[in-house]
Amino acid sequence: MRASLSVYDAVFEATRHLAEAGIAQPRIDARVLVEHVLGVGERHLEFGQREDLRQLVQRRAAREPLAHITGHREFWSLTFAVNRHTLVPRPDSETLIEAALAWPALGRAAVLDLGSGSGCLLAAVLSERPEWWGLGLDIDAAALSVAGYNLDALGLGTRSCLVRGDWTDCLTGSFDVVLCNPPYIAEKEWPDLDPEVATFEPRIALAGGTDGLACYRRIAPRLGDLMSMRGAAFLEVGAGQATHVAELLGHHGLGVVEIKEDLAGIPRCVVARRWNRRG
Ligand SMILES: C[S@@+](CC[C@H](N)C(=O)[O-])C[C@H]1O[C@@H](n2cnc3c(N)ncnc32)[C@H](O)[C@@H]1O
Repeated sequence: MRASLSVYDAVFEATRHLAEAGIAQPRIDARVLVEHVLGVGERHLEFGQREDLRQLVQRRAAREPLAHITGHREFWSLTFAVNRHTLVPRPDSETLIEAALAWPALGRAAVLDLGSGSGCLLAAVLSERPEWWGLGLDIDAAALSVAGYNLDALGLGTRSCLVRGDWTDCLTGSFDVVLCNPPYIAEKEWPDLDPEVATFEPRIALAGGTDGLACYRRIAPRLGDLMSMRGAAFLEVGAGQATHVAELLGHHGLGVVEIKEDLAGIPRCVVARRWNRRG
């Protein structure tokens, strides 16, 4: 075996291995893995790097998500650390960020991110609005520590805080922007999930009960109490769930003002506000 291998040959070999394992975009993943083992400016893989690459390709061939292997994922052009305790941020969720940033000017605003995971939603809006601050909440302590790392790394630690909680149970306050991407996979959808998701991503970040709507049912009754009159809630929904979630919110004093589609044309973000002033 040659001691060093060119980047071209390394990508070629890794692509072949990943294609044989049935990975959908083997060349893209191969390039990412090769870049991951290379130092800055390096164009050849030395012996040790070849062995590192071989192990990474094996993990990817076993369907471990690329983001878990590299330890990071881009979202809203920001880099987020991720691990097996956090959902890998999805491009679809940028629909919530676009909707929240398009909401009529709020000036100083308080943001609540329910089910914050890696902290990607909270960090994305705070990065765009220097006058906003935010609270991220998650039930998973390990996910919260990843979110804390990310917010600090992005220079947003002083405008954010994190709390462990079970949805809205321990919350009071009045928030202008409520972001929430809850678990929404229905039980019957599990057999159709990619192995990357079903085997490696945290079940607590995915499972939405029998019909996928269990978390919305938990969250909806208290959402209005936690929202200011000028603000809005931006809830991510799965394919086919938007009208059910809109109806549910309507039963709890919230009016749906918009349902925004993602880039694939799937209704992805339900935007709701309070109907009436209380008392
Ligand atoms: C779909 S992930 C979203 C993560 C992140 N906001 C994102 O968009 O990538 C749902 C998150 O909700 C959290 N979660 C699940 N059940 C919860 C509960 N009862 N209370 C608070 N958070 C919960 C999970 O730990 C997970 O981080």
